[in-house]
Amino acid sequence: MRLSNCPVNRNLVIAPGYFLMEIETPEIAAEAQPGQFVMIKTREGREPLLRRPLSLHRVSSTSIELLYQVIGKGTQALSQTRPGEFLDLLGPLGKPFPLPASSSGIILLVAGGIGIAPLLALAEQISERLKVKGQRSKANLKIHLLYGAKTKAHLVRISDFQKMGIEVSTITDDGSGGRKGLATDLLRKFLVSPHGNISAAYACGPRPMLKTVAQLTRNKTVPVYLSLEEMMACGMGACLGCSVRARASGIKYLRVCQDGPVFLAEDIILD
Ligand SMILES: Cc1cc2nc3c(=O)[nH]c(=O)nc-3n(C[C@H](O)[C@H](O)[C@H](O)COP(=O)(O)OP(=O)(O)OC[C@H]3O[C@@H](n4cnc5c(N)ncnc54)[C@H](O)[C@@H]3O)c2cc1C
Ligand code: FES
Repeated sequence: MRLSNCPVNRNLVIAPGYFLMEIETPEIAAEAQPGQFVMIKTREGREPLLRRPLSLHRVSSTSIELLYQVIGKGTQALSQTRPGEFLDLLGPLGKPFPLPASSSGIILLVAGGIGIAPLLALAEQISERLKVKGQRSKANLKIHLLYGAKTKAHLVRISDFQKMGIEVSTITDDGSGGRKGLATDLLRKFLVSPHGNISAAYACGPRPMLKTVAQLTRNKTVPVYLSLEEMMACGMGACLGCSVRARASGIKYLRVCQDGPVFLAEDIILD
């Protein structure tokens, strides 16, 4: 983990209220793994005082990309950052997504809204690993993205997934892109269709979505990983502000910032 002051290469609007930011940070990029996050000081000075957590959306050799939605004053300040300006970053933090153990079957990615952010880095890592090992066609491993968003305009980066040979199914709250409904409706349908064996599932999105993903996959014997986006203060395990209830006896709570943000669905209780 490093604290770095890094220049912003670009910061573009890519959908209503969604920004894509690239930051030059060779040190953090060298250590970063999909599923991890950075704590970012969104503006110089006292306000907002606390850093904001954002997932690694993409990692290259010298830079990282962040995909963020403007929510409040922190992300609003971030959206006004211009190329060439510097930002304070702490990271990479948290535990990365474990990679699938099996090189066959279907890997399901389930994204709700801005929850798409960490799943692109994960998809790129899995695809890259298979390419290096020359396994993709031999092993018949398929990746399928089930992606729900508010409107068609909020369905972002789809072609980046498709370029890797990933099948993408979309759904929107208003029916403007794909069917009308939620990402979990796509999952419900997928689970009862004859698609072949699922070898692992990864989900990121609002808490109610993650809760439904956990419920729908409860009887599956495959690992289901949930990436949680709780509110955080310190991001380093000190304040306990990000606690989530643990299922294991003897442990009451897990900290999203240190024990997560990626958890096995069976290890946590989402209220
Ligand atoms: C590990 C992790 C990774 C994340 N990755 C991303 C990402 O890649 N892209 C992205 O857009 N966002 C991500 N988030 C969420 C992001 O951190 C918050 O949206 C951001 O901190 C909001 O800051 P703000 O100052 O703009 O809003 P604030 O002024 O802090 O909040 C505005 C309003 O939103 C509510 N709020 C703030 N944060 C959250 C939250 N996390 N969940 C629910 N309600 C909230 C507050 O209660 C308040 O009502 C991530 C969060 C975590 C913990
Ligand atoms: S944010 Fe402080 S302990 Fe997790």
